[in-house]
Amino acid sequence: MKNIFITGASRGIGLEITKQSLFQGNHVIATCRSPAQAKELILLREQNKERLEIMELNVENEDSVRLCFNKLEEKKQSIDILFNNAGIIDWSDLFEVSISSVEKIYKVNLIGCLMVLRKAIPCLQQSISPLVINLSSRLGSIQLRGETQLGGAIAYQCSKAALNMLTKQSAIDLKPLNIRVISQSPGWVKTEMGGADAKYQVSEAVSLMLNSLNQLHGDQSGIFIGEDGKEIPW
Ligand SMILES: NC(=O)c1ccc[n+]([C@@H]2O[C@H](COP(=O)([O-])OP(=O)(O)OC[C@H]3O[C@@H](n4cnc5c(N)ncnc54)[C@H](OP(=O)(O)O)[C@@H]3O)[C@@H](O)[C@H]2O)c1
Repeated sequence: MKNIFITGASRGIGLEITKQSLFQGNHVIATCRSPAQAKELILLREQNKERLEIMELNVENEDSVRLCFNKLEEKKQSIDILFNNAGIIDWSDLFEVSISSVEKIYKVNLIGCLMVLRKAIPCLQQSISPLVINLSSRLGSIQLRGETQLGGAIAYQCSKAALNMLTKQSAIDLKPLNIRVISQSPGWVKTEMGGADAKYQVSEAVSLMLNSLNQLHGDQSGIFIGEDGKEIPW
């Protein structure tokens, strides 16, 4: 049984990671901004009382991150896999995007992940083989720009490219602590963010993601992979 920690677990990919992790017999700490309103999580807890904890966490708010991890550290909670999943998008391009939107997207998609990762280190150190998964996107790949027809969500793309650098650098910095850090794109998924035309049902994408993570070697860190586990160019 693994201890899985997830941000943004109220809906979409985060909720599905929670469901499938529980189904696989793991213990899940599902975090979200408004636990009282997270109806699906509350229902899941009724069915998995011993193995699902719901905690409040707004990744934009440093106090919220501190409070959440202080509680976990106090009880020496071990985290085997941390999913930095919470994320937001604005499809505006370079000409249209407002600076306040750029700031907000960086706050959630990059700074939030950095704060969570840093505060999670003591819990990750309680695990024998700790792994951090930063939910990235092919839209954040600098090398793929111009090669696919998608693009134009300038703030989102920049935030995910920056998140990839966080992955690469923190994989190096955390190697002495045996903590591995990986960027993973879930593919194009039918969620509120991905929209109805997306390629994957959310259950399909998460199943692919979790399978590919099971197949990683213990020394793989600082890489950018897709839902199928294949490497994506930075
Ligand atoms: N869907 C895709 O096609 C796709 C493709 C590539 C990458 N991704 C990445 O996958 C991740 C999940 O995406 P998704 O498709 O599941 O998106 P989604 O359906 O829009 O869900 C986003 C989740 O993030 C949470 N969130 C937003 N701001 C937050 C904050 N400040 N603090 C805590 N939680 C916050 C939301 O919580 P609330 O319910 O409180 O709003 C929600 O649970 C994101 O990082 C996204 O960039 C998605």
